Amino acid sequence: MTDTSDASAAPVGEAPAYPMTRRCPYRMPVGYEELRGRGPLQKVTLYDGRQVWLVAGNELGRALFPDPRLSSDVLHPGFPFLAPRIAAQTRQRAAPPLVGVDDPEHARQRRMTIPGFGIRRIAALRPRIERIANGLVDDMIDRGSPAELLTQYALPLPSAAICALLGVPFEDHAYFDERSRHVLSSSGEGEAETAYRAFSEILCYLHELIAKKEKHPGDGLVDELIARQLSEGAVDHQELAMMCSLLLVSGHETTANMIALGVVTLLEHPEQMALLREDASLLPHAVEELMRFTSIGDVLMRVAAEDIEIAGRTIRAGDGVALSTMLMNRDPRAWEDPDSFDIRRAAGRHVAFGYGIHQCIGQNLARAEMEIAFRTLFRRIPDLRVTRRADELPLNAPYVLQGVAELPVAW
Ligand code: HEM
Repeated sequence: MTDTSDASAAPVGEAPAYPMTRRCPYRMPVGYEELRGRGPLQKVTLYDGRQVWLVAGNELGRALFPDPRLSSDVLHPGFPFLAPRIAAQTRQRAAPPLVGVDDPEHARQRRMTIPGFGIRRIAALRPRIERIANGLVDDMIDRGSPAELLTQYALPLPSAAICALLGVPFEDHAYFDERSRHVLSSSGEGEAETAYRAFSEILCYLHELIAKKEKHPGDGLVDELIARQLSEGAVDHQELAMMCSLLLVSGHETTANMIALGVVTLLEHPEQMALLREDASLLPHAVEELMRFTSIGDVLMRVAAEDIEIAGRTIRAGDGVALSTMLMNRDPRAWEDPDSFDIRRAAGRHVAFGYGIHQCIGQNLARAEMEIAFRTLFRRIPDLRVTRRADELPLNAPYVLQGVAELPVAW
């Protein structure tokens, strides 16, 4: 039977408050168990009282992610936001490139940037990432136990790697490491203002860097974009600086959170850690399983640009839609025993990098970074331990990228 009702029509009790807070960084929030039982498509209530559709089923998500009637355009009327800080931040500036625009504009931007993230290019970067990881572990060992793994390892590693790929001088990393954190993970007082200012400062930095590189070209993706796109008039300075800022910010926080959370998850599952130590060929599987299990980019927002009849319901034009990658990655119809962490399972079908046209452009890079980060760290410091229990670690807010806000370790 078709339910033609609008998303705003569900009684509030049937549309729980969303997003929900994790208590443990790698477990589902408590309320997810109930959501999972309610079926693949249901309603939830956002902070402003608005009801939106929640996509919880794996199969349904895979049908909806690529559906062109679902828009990622954050400036589209009715686009839903997960928190006032994100709404305010978006209103203050233009739509972010790639992730916040639809085809055909999205396809144009993606064609422009994708050559920078191909498998061969990332394979060529691996020895450099290995040197970076070893250098960071050297520094940690020199300074001695205890250490704070997020700032001493998990964040500088992807930061140095994305700098190398883009051709951004790593000497400046302290400047944009801190600002990237504010853009994607800040959840304190005055956060919208802080996040906006941080992004504006990164944008200014990129403007200056592009101007310098026009005079003295280097060998990174920014230089290629100047040579191929800017010089030929396909983009202007502002668009190029926006694009490079997005790549720089996305290349930082995401993988940093995954490295830190991956360490916590592996160390809290000693039997899985033992399997990995016994058989190093399991590492790529472990990375996919960590992605599935932790689903750090849990909630991806869309707005329906047209009516969509699906799963016996009608998502009306203008309705907000929240796609939960964690619920899709923990759907018992798609995975056997989905709440257990098992590095031997074939987890490659997860949607933790998204799915469809917006699927993560940096996934080859992220995989290489995670593999190298875990291998190097656990080989060089085999007796590494987290000094607090996972459920006692400070966590990021539920509406930003999931992860731990600090990670005290010792050995
Ligand atoms: C483990 C780390 C990472 C995770 C979990 C992650 C997650 C995601 C997800 C879920 C999306 C889809 C967003 C949507 O559909 O709305 C996405 C898109 C994107 N990611 Fe990643 N990402 C990671 C690493 C990276 C890295 C290293 C980069 C490097 C620049 C990057 C750049 C991007 C960009 C530019 C997009 C937008 C693509 C588009 O709209 O076409 N990500 N990522």
